[in-house]
Amino acid sequence: MRVDKILANLGYGSRKDVKKILKSGGVTVNGELVKDGKQHVDPNKDHIVIHGEEVHYREFIYLMMNKPQGVISATEDTRDETVVDLLEPEHIVFEPFPVGRLDKDTEGLLLITNDGQLAHQLLSPKKHVPKTYFAVIAGEVTESDVEAFRRGVTLDDGYETKPGELVILKSGIRSDIELTITEGKFHQVKRMFEAVGKKVVYLQRISMGPLVLDEELELGEYRELTEEEVKLLVDR
Ligand code: URA
Repeated sequence: MRVDKILANLGYGSRKDVKKILKSGGVTVNGELVKDGKQHVDPNKDHIVIHGEEVHYREFIYLMMNKPQGVISATEDTRDETVVDLLEPEHIVFEPFPVGRLDKDTEGLLLITNDGQLAHQLLSPKKHVPKTYFAVIAGEVTESDVEAFRRGVTLDDGYETKPGELVILKSGIRSDIELTITEGKFHQVKRMFEAVGKKVVYLQRISMGPLVLDEELELGEYRELTEEEVKLLVDR
């Protein structure tokens, strides 16, 4: 791959900017000065240094975000801020996108990546990837709701959901629950509660497959997945 393309992809500037950096002697490959952007290098093997800083090239990035409310799970939107708008330029250059959608008012775990194959696998209905949500429900959630969810409920459009595992954490006029589902229908959690006559007033995703929301992440913050987390996802 051309060295100027690699550096531009990594966010060191436009091809033109990178050309200038190369010309001014800012880049070495395996210790040798490289001034010609057309020079081919293997980003996985060759040791590229720009302004004394080692370059880490990779094809894919995997980010875990604690999505805040008010932000759209999309790459662009004409009206609202998107989760990609919250990323640093050094990550945006990889052209990542959110894996699936959380509603505008839902918080929590969102995987953002440019690995289309992985995204497809995680979203495929055939794979039954479990997703766990914490929710606050207006009204008293009871054992009969647990049983109804275990059997599957009928949504407003007639769709029969697959079984969901409902755990009541606190029951009262407001109830705290955790719900694990293996599907991703539009507004699924909210509509499952509507099916039993209750309203979700707060929703947060806490896990997706083997990925668990990092509690250290404040709302709107994100971090790269660890190698171990990537391995867990890819090896599933
Ligand atoms: N279910 C919902 O209703 N909303 C979400 O954002 C995710 C799951």
